[in-house]
Amino acid sequence: MADILPRLWYPLSAAAATTGIVLLLRDFMHGERCPSKATMEGKTVIITGANNGIGKETAKELSKRGGRVIMACRNMDKCQGARDQLVQESGNQNVHCQQVDLASFESVRKFASRINKSEAKVDVLINNAGVMRCPHWKTADGNEWQFQVNYLSHFLLTNLILDKLKAAKQGRIINTSSIAHSQGQINFEDINSTVKYEDTDAYMQSKLALVLFTLELSKRLEGTGVTANTVYPGVTKTNIGQHKLSKMESAVTKPFMWFALRDPARAAQTGVYLSVAPEVADKTGKYWKDTVAITPAAQGRDEDIAKKLWDLSLKMTGLSEDVSSKDQSKEEKASS
Ligand SMILES: NC(=O)c1ccc[n+]([C@@H]2O[C@H](COP(=O)([O-])OP(=O)(O)OC[C@H]3O[C@@H](n4cnc5c(N)ncnc54)[C@H](OP(=O)(O)O)[C@@H]3O)[C@@H](O)[C@H]2O)c1
Ligand SMILES: *[C@@H]1O[C@H](CO)[C@@H](O)[C@H](O)[C@H]1NC(C)=O
Ligand SMILES: *[C@@H]1O[C@H](CO)[C@@H](O)[C@H](O)[C@H]1NC(C)=O
Ligand SMILES: *[C@@H]1O[C@H](CO)[C@@H](O)[C@H](O)[C@H]1NC(C)=O
Repeated sequence: MADILPRLWYPLSAAAATTGIVLLLRDFMHGERCPSKATMEGKTVIITGANNGIGKETAKELSKRGGRVIMACRNMDKCQGARDQLVQESGNQNVHCQQVDLASFESVRKFASRINKSEAKVDVLINNAGVMRCPHWKTADGNEWQFQVNYLSHFLLTNLILDKLKAAKQGRIINTSSIAHSQGQINFEDINSTVKYEDTDAYMQSKLALVLFTLELSKRLEGTGVTANTVYPGVTKTNIGQHKLSKMESAVTKPFMWFALRDPARAAQTGVYLSVAPEVADKTGKYWKDTVAITPAAQGRDEDIAKKLWDLSLKMTGLSEDVSSKDQSKEEKASS
């Protein structure tokens, strides 16, 4: 025994040091934790796609902080399952499921009108739900699936409940976009991908649309106290890859995923930060990663494209009047 120990000492300490370095590196890659301890008490948050992944972890953290949490999900069984778990873990009973299917404008309108009746105010809206690289499906409204689910329906929802965000002391709108926006293009000539469908391009287009939406929306919200920001959660282990990764591929890439891909709880941190922290109350129109505002890609800063997309989105969602228009509030003031 006495002579084995010195011989083992070197390999064991080398192994321990390597493990330590791998864990530190991994922790670094998984991003920042929310630095704010601010509570959500007395505040209401709506999170779309809250039954799984990043949305669920965001809902969990905000329910632990005492908020009224409305989980906006398409499948009520999945939603109830996730809700029961959140209630158990957070001890907060004020967590609720509300049905909305973002692949249908009618469903979004019904959801918004229920919220309009049940809530006096909405402090935070987190447009999180998303689908990535699905087959070439069309929604009930005839639009390309990813463009509507990821972007158009959130555009409609945000505009329909804007009054409730304005009714809050300091309303916050948070969109979940992706680094994918930096490769994206808004294809105005073929917005529904009718001529050509490429699942990756359509995903990137929908995520760029969210970044541009934030830009235009934040301008329109100037002076209302409501802020609008986009969050990039980082590459995260969730169901988002379901349309592309087979079980086999997932198994093979597991060690890599453990190291490089974020846990949803960590990926949720920047969204949580933007939801609660007093120090970001006046930050708007920005793109965030790891709790800091960074510059989005050039096409995510193009104000002309943002305006053009806004007008197209109004048409595509059938929003007749531009509820959030600054000009309109000026006109109202002028006429009164
Ligand atoms: N994971 C990443 O690496 C990554 C990177 C960048 C950005 N993001 C973004 O992060 C957001 C959250 O994704 P995630 O990674 O957490 O993926 P996820 O685990 O697949 O969660 C997506 C959520 O969206 C919901 N959803 C999908 N289609 C819907 C519809 N038609 N109506 C209502 N809800 C719908 C899903 O509900 P069901 O369970 O019913 O399908 C699920 O709750 C997405 O916007 C995604 O683009 C993710
Ligand atoms: C919300 O309610 C108000 C007042 O009842 C109504 O004027 C408005 O049209 C409603 N908005 C939606 C989106 O249902
Ligand atoms: C996309 O599809 C919608 C719904 O069918 C339609 O209203 C719109 O005109 C189409 N847009 C383009 C550019 O094809
Ligand atoms: C979020 O995205 C929606 C469209 O999906 C857009 O209308 C809204 O302005 C965006 N908000 C922010 C804060 O980016």
